[in-house]
Amino acid sequence: MEFLHYHNGQLLAGKVAISDLAKQYGTPLYVYCADYITQQFCAYQDSLKDKQHLICYAVKANSNLSVLNLLAKLGAGFDIVSQGELERVLKAGGDPKKIVFSGVAKSIVEIKRALEVGIKCFNVESEPELYRINEVAKQLGKIATVSLRINPDVDAKTHPYISTGLRENKFGISYQLALDFYQKAACLSHIKIVGIDCHIGSQLTELSPFLDAADRILTLVDKLKAENIHLEHIDLGGGLGVCYDNETPPCASLLVSELMVKLANYAELEVIFEPGRSIVANAGLLITKVEYTKHQDDNHFAIVDAGMNDLIRPALYQAWMRVLPVKEPKSSDNKEYYNVVGPICESSDVLAYQRELFVAQDDLLVICSAGAYGFSMASNYNGHPRPAEVMLEGDNQHKLIRKRETFDDLWRGELVL
Ligand code: LLP
Repeated sequence: MEFLHYHNGQLLAGKVAISDLAKQYGTPLYVYCADYITQQFCAYQDSLKDKQHLICYAVKANSNLSVLNLLAKLGAGFDIVSQGELERVLKAGGDPKKIVFSGVAKSIVEIKRALEVGIKCFNVESEPELYRINEVAKQLGKIATVSLRINPDVDAKTHPYISTGLRENKFGISYQLALDFYQKAACLSHIKIVGIDCHIGSQLTELSPFLDAADRILTLVDKLKAENIHLEHIDLGGGLGVCYDNETPPCASLLVSELMVKLANYAELEVIFEPGRSIVANAGLLITKVEYTKHQDDNHFAIVDAGMNDLIRPALYQAWMRVLPVKEPKSSDNKEYYNVVGPICESSDVLAYQRELFVAQDDLLVICSAGAYGFSMASNYNGHPRPAEVMLEGDNQHKLIRKRETFDDLWRGELVL
C-alpha cells in the first residue's frame, strides 16, 4: 500500500499519523485513500481511451456513499446485484443509464424499480429470469434492455468460494445453451438484446482465465452475428486480483491491452468491465487496538478489538492480509509469533495467523488491503456496532464518511412483544 509508510517510528497514511486517526475516530476504524481509488479507476479508463467503454464499479466491494460518489464523479458506471445497491448508487449521484444489474435472484420488485429508473441493462442469469423481466416490462409498457451472462466453464484458479465461471457454479447461462437462449430472447416482445457478459471469479492473479473466457464469449458473438443477432456491448466482468502478500496479478492496463487484441475485429462493440477489488482493496485499511496479549504454552495471542464481524475475509476464505504495527518495529524488539484474534466467540475469529510481532496492550495494528469486501461484509455479530469509516483526501485531509454505529443502531427496527 503505497500511501503507508513509517516516519519517526510511527506509521503514517500520507502525512497523517494512524495513531491520530485512532485517537480522533476510535477503533476499529476503516480508512480509505481517495487518491488511490481515483488512480486505480483511471488506470482502467486510460487504457480504454481509444475504445468506446464503460467501467462499471462493482458496488459490493465497497458501497460507502462517498466511495460511490467519488467514482460517479470520475464517470464510473456501476455493477449492482440488488435494489439496495441500486438505491445506494442513485443516492450517491450515480447515473442510472450507466448501471448494469447482475445477480441470480432478481425479484419482481427489483426488476420493476430498475426499469422505472432506466438502467443500462440487466445481466440475465437464467431463462425464467428473462421471462420475468419480459413480463414486468410489459406491465410497465417498457422495453427491457438485456445482456445474457454466459458461464464459459473456465477455471479462474482462485478460491472455490469466489470462483463463478465453472459449469457447477450457480452463475450465468451455460455457453453451450447460449445460442438457443439468445434466439428465445429475440422473440420476446418487451426485451431488447444489447449485450453479452461473463464474470468468472474474483482475486484472479493470472491472465489466462480472462483470455480463455474472452475467446469463448467472442466465439458466441460470431455465432450470434451469423444468426442476425447484433450486440452493442461486451462485458468482461471484474475479478482482477490484487497483491495482499506476494501475489503478482497483472495490472489493469495489461489485462485491458491483452483483451483489446482479441477485440480488434469488434470495433462496433462497447467494452464494459465490472472491477471491484482492484479499485478499492489496496485503498483501504482497518485500524484495530490490542485489548490484551495472552501467552499460553507456545501460543501467543494479540487479542484486538476488530473481529470477523468487521472483516470476515480471513475467516471465510482463509485470506492472508498483511498486519502492520503502528509503532515501527526495531531489530532489538523481542518479537513472538502471534495469532491476531478478535473478540468474537468463535475459534475462526482470527484475522491473521503466526505473524512475527512485538506488541503490548493498547498498541495499534493495521490490517492492510481491507478496502474491498471489508466493511461491505461486516455484521453486528456478538453485539458489536459496525466501525466508522474515514476518507483520506490528499496527503493530510481526512473526513468521516460513516459514523460508528451506536447501540441504538443495533436494535433499530426491532419490536418488543
Ligand atoms: N461482477 C460480478 C457479477 C461479480 O459477482 C463480482 C464479484 C464482481 C463483478 C467484482 O469482482 P472483483 O473485481 O471485486 O473481483 N467477498 C469475496 C469476493 C466476492 C466477489 C463476488 N463477486 C472476497 O472478499 O474475496
